[in-house]
Amino acid sequence: MEGVGKDFLEKLQAVARETGTPVLVIDLEQVRRNYRRFQQLLPRVQIYYAVKANPDPEVVRTLYQLGASFDVASLPEFHLVRENIKHLLPAQQQEFIWDKIIYAHPVKMVNTLHELEPYKPLVVYDNYDELDKIKKHCPSAGLILRLEVPNEGSVVNLSSKFGASYEDAVAMVVRAVEMGFTVEGLSFHVGSQCTNLDNYRRALSLSSRVFQEVSRRGIRIGNSRTGRRIMDIGGGFPAEEYAPGSISFEHLAESLKGMMKELFPEETEFIAEPGRFLVANAGTLVVSVIGRAFRHGKVSYYIDDGLYGTFSGQVFDHQIYTLRAFRPGPVEKCTVFGPTCDGLDTVSPHMNDAAYPAARLPRMEPGELLYAMNMGAYTLASASRFNGFPLARVAYLNR
Ligand SMILES: Cc1ncc(COP(=O)(O)O)c(C=O)c1O
Repeated sequence: MEGVGKDFLEKLQAVARETGTPVLVIDLEQVRRNYRRFQQLLPRVQIYYAVKANPDPEVVRTLYQLGASFDVASLPEFHLVRENIKHLLPAQQQEFIWDKIIYAHPVKMVNTLHELEPYKPLVVYDNYDELDKIKKHCPSAGLILRLEVPNEGSVVNLSSKFGASYEDAVAMVVRAVEMGFTVEGLSFHVGSQCTNLDNYRRALSLSSRVFQEVSRRGIRIGNSRTGRRIMDIGGGFPAEEYAPGSISFEHLAESLKGMMKELFPEETEFIAEPGRFLVANAGTLVVSVIGRAFRHGKVSYYIDDGLYGTFSGQVFDHQIYTLRAFRPGPVEKCTVFGPTCDGLDTVSPHMNDAAYPAARLPRMEPGELLYAMNMGAYTLASASRFNGFPLARVAYLNR
């Protein structure tokens, strides 16, 4: 994240003073930088922001203003994106939904399909029952078939839950076409926070084989409007801050470009669904120390956000966020607890495990502030109000 320094820290403290804590401070300029970097390094790929990573309306609006497309996985996410196009004429709104929204959840509820039907949406499927459901409740949809691909080494594994196997994929395209659908393309997801380039290589090569086999059988896969087939390379692009020293996005993008060129015809339309890459390093959480206790010679702090709140990413997204003090001073190992009554609500344990390290902070006084960076993805998105504690507020820099 750029701009870390005295100025940035002063801004965080000023925001916290103004709004109170806990507050997730989202730097919208950092979101813009991430978007432009992706665009610059993978110019052939249309960016569909995966709203689930951070469904904050200002983040969605910022990306909309940059010309982004969107990956939604629920009706509320779909409507959140639609909020941005309400000023357009109905025909333009329809155009946007066709061109710039993918409903990427392969298993949809019936009422969702009903509600999507008037929009002729682009939706994902990966099983026969879903095809029957779509036929009955949303027959206007264009389809993308999601493939099961290796997720080896990715921090969040999605391969056991979604994706048609190579053996089933061709028959599933054939069935959809026989049912009168247009299959517009294929998709996959290599797992979130994927630093294993081989996952992308194997997924792209598998997709290319499915395209070839389908076409050998005389069946056309193609976008109903442009005629070009869509290759959706999913999400998974790692936030470099979570894996320092591993693959850079420059290297990943260069390799992907090579594979896309080698394995697919020129007219292929590439799209991607980055979530974390666009937002992870744009969010910094500021919290207050609400209490302190000394037990067995060790110091514990209680803060006003925890595992049931914005730190839920430590549970669901398997990331550990480092708490820092705003002032210098000799640090000591300490335990940090969230605000709820549950013992699980431990932000930093006292034991020092490489995977779950203890916090190291100067001696803090109740009322003082702490911050944790790189908390823009899969944090507030999965927070709950357990024990009655409200969600963190959100504030913006560079709106
Ligand atoms: C279908 C789909 N697309 C995109 C994403 C975003 O993934 P990431 O944040 O790893 O880029 C996810 C995340 O779960 C997903 O399920």
